[in-house]
Amino acid sequence: MQTLIHVLYMLASVLFIFGLKRMSKIKTSAQGNGMAALAMLIAIAATLMDLVSQGKIEWPFIIAGIVVGSAIGAWYALTVQMTQMPQMVGLFNGFGGLSSFLVGFSFFWENMIAHHGGETTAVALGADQAVTIALSIFVGGITFSGSLVAYAKLEGSILGKKVPDQPVLLPGRHVLNVALFLGAILVGWALAFLVQGSFVHFLTILVLSVIALAMGITLVIAIGGADMPVVISLLNSYSGIAASMTGFVIQNNLLIISGALVGSAGLILTNIMCKAMNRSLANVIFGGFGAVAATGGGKEGYTNVKSTGPEELAMILDAATKVIFVPGYGLAVAQAQHACRELGDMLEKKGVEVSYAIHPVAGRMPGHMNVLLAEANVPYDKLFEMDQINAEFKTTDVAIILGANDVVNPAALHDKNSPIYGMPILNVHEARTVVVVKRSLGAGFAGIRNELFDADNSLMFFSDAKKALTDVIEELKAV
Ligand code: TAP
Repeated sequence: MQTLIHVLYMLASVLFIFGLKRMSKIKTSAQGNGMAALAMLIAIAATLMDLVSQGKIEWPFIIAGIVVGSAIGAWYALTVQMTQMPQMVGLFNGFGGLSSFLVGFSFFWENMIAHHGGETTAVALGADQAVTIALSIFVGGITFSGSLVAYAKLEGSILGKKVPDQPVLLPGRHVLNVALFLGAILVGWALAFLVQGSFVHFLTILVLSVIALAMGITLVIAIGGADMPVVISLLNSYSGIAASMTGFVIQNNLLIISGALVGSAGLILTNIMCKAMNRSLANVIFGGFGAVAATGGGKEGYTNVKSTGPEELAMILDAATKVIFVPGYGLAVAQAQHACRELGDMLEKKGVEVSYAIHPVAGRMPGHMNVLLAEANVPYDKLFEMDQINAEFKTTDVAIILGANDVVNPAALHDKNSPIYGMPILNVHEARTVVVVKRSLGAGFAGIRNELFDADNSLMFFSDAKKALTDVIEELKAV
């Protein structure tokens, strides 16, 4: 039995690695996801076989857990809106962290107290075990409470209570976080080396849990809603690290490997996002970006704004031969992906070359625009990453910006005083005509004026993105 379990663990590890590799390309990502899901199924089955064979758990509990968990998971997956995906991912990370927290806690509970003939005594754990338990609880706790805050910020509420999107900057927050962190190190050290074999042991683990849960909250409430994707990716990485630590605690090699894979993949993704915004991770976590009210919103500072509407845009499109759609956060808010595809199809039927330009941090999570457009069945080969498409704008008749703002702001290229200076952008301003579809002259997440709105070749189409596209489709039908 043990040999079979080890073979299954090995198989699952290999499938996890190949699954992850395949997820790095759009075309093979669905297959990669399937491989990773199969690996997880094998891993769970092998672990349960192991536990049952050791008499640690009984099948009725397992079956009850599977039925309840699967029912909740299936209900959630079927009812969640595409726009709610970021918070769903955040919540799942949180549950990963909670699992590590609980496993570390229960392992500690099970192994620190011994019952002999009605007498309860405290048992000393090895320092290595105590350290991994402490890390499992600390990282798992931060991941859990931090993910709940990230979920609440993205959802806009939790348990019926409204949660602001803006960073909440507590007075002295840096001092508080440093104090909590040092406190955690001190308690972890005491747990491993000072209070072994006494009931103070249990107290230290409780204090460590409280510190971890508090730190998750104090760190994440200070971060703005639009930075949540970076936070979620980082917390995802933490949940992997916590799982890996838990693997050491319960001596499960597969958990160590899969946790390390999640930990490193999350860190790489976090790094990619920070680079795409030209910001450091420290700036995202401690910078309080987005706390200052938008200064570039409203009409102030704009002198050359020209408005357009469905009729004029339909005429412009009728004369175009090459069109690029540039989706942004507003497309997700408006749920305009289906209308966008319909307009794209219509133009293609008229012989227009149509493509979709994807900025790495457009929207509110990595791959947000890819997911939305895939939902509307836009073919993968029509979606182009920023580096692939930037050279195309020069020869494009019309660039249609759908609820994107910061990712098309040319200030990022030359204005050294701009908060987004250095962030790579989609060079839409190079197209012959730029049509910006949004509801107002309001700012994007960075809260700054967008000089694109004032450019000579720009036209502002003030409308909800879905309504604008639907109106243009109607007009085009009449042309
Ligand atoms: P933003 O700069 O946030 O701008 C979105 C625009 O959508 C707003 O200006 C808003 O203008 C418009 N909008 C909202 N609802 C709309 C609707 N129903 N119809 C039409 N337009 C609507 O979006 P972006 O260009 O996608 O940039 C993303 C931002 O998030 C960047 O600053 C990026 O750094 C940040 N961020 C993203 C990520 C990831 S991974 N995606 C991670 C961290 C940070 P109106 O209110 O005038 O309509």
